[in-house]
Amino acid sequence: MAVAILLVGGFGTRLMPLTKNTPKPMLTVAGIPVTEHQIAMAKAAGITEIVLATSYLSEVFIPYFGDGSKWGMKIKYAVEKEPLGTGGGIRNAAQLLDSDQSVVILNGDVLSSHNLAEQIRQHESHDADVTLHLTQVEDARAFGCVPTDSNGRVTAFLEKMENPVTNQINAGCYVFNPRVITAIPLDTVVSVERETFPHLVASGAKVFGYVEKAYWLDIGTPRALLKASIDIVKRSGEFLAMPGAGIDPTAVITGGSCIGSNSSVGAGAVIDGSIIEAGCVIGPNAKISDSFVATGTEIKNNVKITSSFATNNEILPIP
Ligand code: GTP
Repeated sequence: MAVAILLVGGFGTRLMPLTKNTPKPMLTVAGIPVTEHQIAMAKAAGITEIVLATSYLSEVFIPYFGDGSKWGMKIKYAVEKEPLGTGGGIRNAAQLLDSDQSVVILNGDVLSSHNLAEQIRQHESHDADVTLHLTQVEDARAFGCVPTDSNGRVTAFLEKMENPVTNQINAGCYVFNPRVITAIPLDTVVSVERETFPHLVASGAKVFGYVEKAYWLDIGTPRALLKASIDIVKRSGEFLAMPGAGIDPTAVITGGSCIGSNSSVGAGAVIDGSIIEAGCVIGPNAKISDSFVATGTEIKNNVKITSSFATNNEILPIP
């Protein structure tokens, strides 16, 4: 058995202005927050206890997830007054876990369908200090890469480079032995990626890679956020309407769009490849494509929006 910490405290600057009032992990993908997808993933791997490591807009999480019982989970909240980085956030959150079980860490902005239960199993059978999920990408130049030896041990954490030595990259899901977390200093800004992991490898600790190339996407950019939602919706149809969504029969909704709960779509509206969050009003004959319409936004009749973020205050092109 393992417990989990979800890192959800970042500023999400690349997704501004969507992250002005909503932390990145609470943005919806296929009708539910990214964090909710991750909770389902953790649950499927047998995890029942989770701490959300929050900081920026921490107050947004509790009203939605409560004590977790709705998901059959026990959810607690750690709050960093000032963001402590990924390592400091893990150390702070771990104080709410009084167990000696393996601790799964999920970056709050990654959707992955890899076999987490198998990652945990391998971690425990190696008695590893840390086991990182590594995925393989076509072009690793945009990422730091993580080479492993023939036994699966990580040999280095390499910065971005023109000629990467491997196409394996850190996929943002780790299993930690709790002793490694205790060694991170309290109330100190620490990055696991830049400090803890390289230090562990340099000091000969048992850092393993769990290599699995399953569906994986970092939703940290606007394009990726839309792609994630479209990918998931398209698994089961052309569009997804959440409970309470009211769609006029003459509206045309395509391309893996999602219509959030209690949103309405007027007559003749055309929506393609877009996320319409909860409680939006899309006026008759509006045309929305490749766009993200934030919770509670009203789009007037006949308005045309392409490749944009829309809130009630502004419509900005997606870079
Ligand atoms: P950008 O500002 O757009 O890069 O996004 P970000 O602030 O979320 O940073 P990044 O994508 O590097 O963060 C990866 C994950 O770690 C995200 O799920 C963040 O929410 C989380 N995270 C980043 N910094 C902190 C922190 O200081 N504390 C906590 N608790 N989580 C963090």
